[in-house]
Amino acid sequence: MLEIRELETGYGKKQVLFGLSLEVRKGEIVALIGPNGAGKSTVLKAVCGLIPTWKGQILFEGRATNGSTPAQNVARGITFAPQGNRVFDDLTVMENLDIGGFQLPRKELKERINQVLEMFPILRERCRQDAGNLSGGEQQMLALARALVPRPKLLMLDEPSLGLSPSLVGTVFKKIVEINREAGVTILIVEQKVREVLDICHRVYSIKLGKAAFAGAPEELKENKDKLKQLFL
Ligand SMILES: Nc1ncnc2c1ncn2[C@@H]1O[C@H](COP(=O)(O)OP(=O)(O)OP(=O)(O)O)[C@@H](O)[C@H]1O
Ligand SMILES: [Mg+2]
Repeated sequence: MLEIRELETGYGKKQVLFGLSLEVRKGEIVALIGPNGAGKSTVLKAVCGLIPTWKGQILFEGRATNGSTPAQNVARGITFAPQGNRVFDDLTVMENLDIGGFQLPRKELKERINQVLEMFPILRERCRQDAGNLSGGEQQMLALARALVPRPKLLMLDEPSLGLSPSLVGTVFKKIVEINREAGVTILIVEQKVREVLDICHRVYSIKLGKAAFAGAPEELKENKDKLKQLFL
C-alpha cells in the first residue's frame, strides 16, 4: 500500500533522513521505533505531505505522492494524527470530528461521524462538550476518531500513548487493534512504548541515523533484548 524508497529529506539545510526505505502492506500494523530525534516523525510528515521530499520516492497504491499536499493525500486515503497535537480544546467533540471530515459532502459527513461514534461510545456521550474538558485518554480517542472520519486506507499515528497513564495506554492500543481488525484500516504507528507496540504490530522498523537499521517481525526483538538495546544506542 505504501512504499518509501531511498527517501532523503530534512528541514532547511539540516538533513534528517538519509536513504530511508520501508513498506507497509494492506491490512498491516507497522511500527516505527528508534531513539529521540532519529527522524520518525519526519517520515510521517513526509508521507502526508507536510514537508517536501528531497530525493527518493513515496508511492501510495503504486502512485507517487511526492509533491502532493496534505489535503490531496487525505482525499487519496492517508490520514495523520500528529505527535502531541491532540484536539482543538475550545471546540466541541462534534466540531473536532467535523474538521476531520472537512472534505466530505455535508450529508455524508454526518453519516460517517455516526459510524465512527459507534466505535467510540464515550465520545458519543460527550458530543457537545468542549474537547479541552476531556481526559487525556478521551482526547486521544477523539484524535483517533477524527483521523478516521475521512475513511482512511492508511492511518498514521505519531506516539498515540504520549502522556497517558499505563492503563490508558492499554485502552488506546486496544482501540488501535480494533480499528485495524474490524474497520480494516492499515496502520503505520510511531511509538516510544516499545514493549506495548511490539505486542500489537505485524512488522517493525527501527530508524537510526536517518535510515532503517532493522526491519522484521516484532518477535525477533521481543526475544532478543540485546538487539533491541543496540537499536536505541
Ligand atoms: N520543524 C523542524 N525544524 C528543524 N528541525 C527539525 C524540525 N522538526 C524536527 N527537526 C529535527 O529533525 C530531527 C528529527 O526529528 P523528528 O521529530 O523526526 O524525530 P523523532 O524520531 O520523531 O523524535 P522523537 O522521538 O523525539 O519524537 C531532529 O534532530 C529534530 O531536531
Ligand atoms: Mg517524533
